[in-house]
Amino acid sequence: MKVAVASDHAGFCQKDHIIAYLCSLGAEVEDFGPGDEERVDYPDYADKVARAVASGKADRGVLLCGTGLGMALTADKVPGIRAVAVQTPEFARLAREHNDANVVCLSGRFVDPEVNEEVVKEFMTTDFAGGRHAVRVQKIMEEDKR
Ligand code: RB5
Repeated sequence: MKVAVASDHAGFCQKDHIIAYLCSLGAEVEDFGPGDEERVDYPDYADKVARAVASGKADRGVLLCGTGLGMALTADKVPGIRAVAVQTPEFARLAREHNDANVVCLSGRFVDPEVNEEVVKEFMTTDFAGGRHAVRVQKIMEEDKR
């Protein structure tokens, strides 16, 4: 699976750790930056990852900022993206099973790297359940056309 990853300065402290973990799961990772902890604006990085996923260059996206919230708000504006800010493995599993989320946004400041690993594992390995959830996800995606 191809995974696009980026952070801002507040998520940078966990970016390399999460990339290494993704590689250990067998993912092919593209790092969209930044290259250091210098202050940056999270929308610029959310946009790069969201567009990689929306265009099909990547299958999934992983974004890290202080809370995960700003990344999710921005990425979700890109048509085709279903971005979620997730703090627990169970929510990651449900975001895949029920919402077919394609970008997960992690907190680098409030969630430990070990927990974020579990979040990423659930996000990468859980399939969309389809069925009644497919109808609902289709309705979400219709919002992109309005
Ligand atoms: C940066 O200070 C912080 O606002 C950002 O990383 C993120 O948490 C925004 O949602």
